[in-house]
Amino acid sequence: MPPQPATPAAQFTQLLSATRRGARLARLLTVEQIAEWGWPRDSERAEAVAVVVAELAANAIVHGRLPGRGFRLSLVLLPGSRLRIEVTDPRGDVLPSVSGVADEGGRGLVIVDALAAEWGVRPYPPSGKTVWAEVGSVRLGSRTDGR
Ligand SMILES: Nc1ncnc2c1ncn2[C@@H]1O[C@H](COP(=O)(O)OP(=O)(O)O)[C@@H](O)[C@H]1O
Ligand SMILES: [Mg+2]
Repeated sequence: MPPQPATPAAQFTQLLSATRRGARLARLLTVEQIAEWGWPRDSERAEAVAVVVAELAANAIVHGRLPGRGFRLSLVLLPGSRLRIEVTDPRGDVLPSVSGVADEGGRGLVIVDALAAEWGVRPYPPSGKTVWAEVGSVRLGSRTDGR
């Protein structure tokens, strides 16, 4: 647990269409926003953030889509150079699950799990959900706990 409540230093939110174009926009807007917040564009962290957003947005438009509804991207800059990515979709009735079976489904959440310090899902009342992931200041590749 962090010693202090995580008060956002800055925040970006955008509603997007649940289409491939919307998912692509989510990634492009993210790249621009974190550059504006001073994360070097070609840094491992910035690349990790772009990949995580791309995977979560792809899942929102494929698995979390409801006709006529969009999805929402939020980026929350937290103290300690942590970034929380939040992707909200309208389907709270189906949830992400990382498949343990090698040939089943894609690798999107496996990649998210590898790149994010933490990730999870919370309800977005009344009927949606938010899939969130935090990319921290810890150097990628330095993890030694086997996760
Ligand atoms: N936003 C979401 N809403 C509902 N189900 C999801 C969502 N994201 C992921 N899932 C579920 O988790 C599974 C694993 O996701 P992922 O690893 O990205 O693989 P893929 O998208 O290729 O199936 C998906 O097949 C889907 O069943
Ligand atoms: Mg996926």
